Amino acid sequence: MPPLAVPRARAADEVHYRLVLREGEAQLLPQGPVTRIWGYDGQVPGPLLTAPQDATLVVEAENRLGVPTSVHWHGVRLPNAMDGVAGLTQPPILPGETFTYRFALPDAGTFWYHPHYDTGSQLGRGLYGPLIVTEKSPPVVDRDLLWVFGDWRLGDDGQVIDDFHDPFDQAHDGRVGDLVTLNGSAADSVAVRRNELLRLRLVNACAARVLALTFEGHRPWVLARDGQPTTPWELGAAPLLLGPGMRADLLLRCDGTAESLPVVDHYNPAHPAELLRLVYEGSIESIAPDGDLQLLRANPLALPDPARAERLEIVLAGGMMHGMGSSEAMHQGAALWTINGQAMAHEPGTIQAVEPLFRLSLGRSYHLVVRNDSDRWHPLHLHGMHMLLLAENGETVTGERWADSLLLAPRGSAEALLLADNPGRWMLHCHVLQHQESGMASVVDVA
Ligand code: C2O
Ligand code: CU
Repeated sequence: MPPLAVPRARAADEVHYRLVLREGEAQLLPQGPVTRIWGYDGQVPGPLLTAPQDATLVVEAENRLGVPTSVHWHGVRLPNAMDGVAGLTQPPILPGETFTYRFALPDAGTFWYHPHYDTGSQLGRGLYGPLIVTEKSPPVVDRDLLWVFGDWRLGDDGQVIDDFHDPFDQAHDGRVGDLVTLNGSAADSVAVRRNELLRLRLVNACAARVLALTFEGHRPWVLARDGQPTTPWELGAAPLLLGPGMRADLLLRCDGTAESLPVVDHYNPAHPAELLRLVYEGSIESIAPDGDLQLLRANPLALPDPARAERLEIVLAGGMMHGMGSSEAMHQGAALWTINGQAMAHEPGTIQAVEPLFRLSLGRSYHLVVRNDSDRWHPLHLHGMHMLLLAENGETVTGERWADSLLLAPRGSAEALLLADNPGRWMLHCHVLQHQESGMASVVDVA
């Protein structure tokens, strides 16, 4: 578990933190050299920020890096000016400057924070951290565990390779690394006790890797997705898909029939990789013995109106350049990825001038129909609002499933309802950060 930052002066319903963005070191490789990273408070993941639902979170972010940055609160429904998108909702935080974020937390759940300025490089060097908004009456579990997954590309010297804007990565699956870390160190084993009931909060903070997880010998239940309670379902043999940026809250009973059981990532279906092992050490009497499945209380999300929803089509395309030599594309810095044929340039300071992809009317419902015309995965993330998932790849989604990101499989599709109830200019982009920076990004205006 990442160290808990000590909240500063606490007014009645305000929770204050101060984060210093600076260089630091992390023991990512258990045996290898320490890795120089960029981190919130110099650590990776950044400090766990927690606050109760309905509290106001106040975070002073001091930039002691040599480059501009910003802090985006991924999945939090907040006022546009606090969304932390440099060049759109605020000017970048320049080296030496401090920016204070202040916003209420309407939803309890698992969220996270990261820069929204040259995000691929900054997140890839370690700038990301978890935010947990606690429920007034949380489910009764023996332990509440937070698993933040990161992905690294390290050289033989154990240092981060500076190849963040590689055109090959941009044109393919993004900058997928070769070391997946759990809470900032090479994932290997997690000790569990027989009988205990765990709440697992999973955060995919990888720049590009889609996690496809199975829990061998266990039958976890999915309680929440992207910070929002969902109609629970039991994970079967099919992996839990978690694209970059996405979260899931699980309930897992430690009733395995072996001394240790793996959690496997099927990102590459031909080569499933063991991410870590749940290792049984001792046993306990659970404070939550088997009984009814515990549900999370729904957050106060207003429902979109399907009968009046206006249809919006979104087509994701791009990838390997056709008809243009790739060296030519490199030299021109050509955009490789598009949303509805539009590629957004990412030079800081230019986002404000971007023509919105859609102008949505405040209070109106929309039916998003998304199609992936490419051979890559795209977690399509919308800021400021959650979408109600209707279908994936033509299959109806049963029950209530909110999402701040729609995960599009290669050549896949998704449908969702959106109630445009948060005014402002919001980013809609692929969270494979190398796709985002090479065009797959847009702005949606709600007014
Ligand atoms: Cu996780 Cu545009 O953000
Ligand atoms: Cu993408």
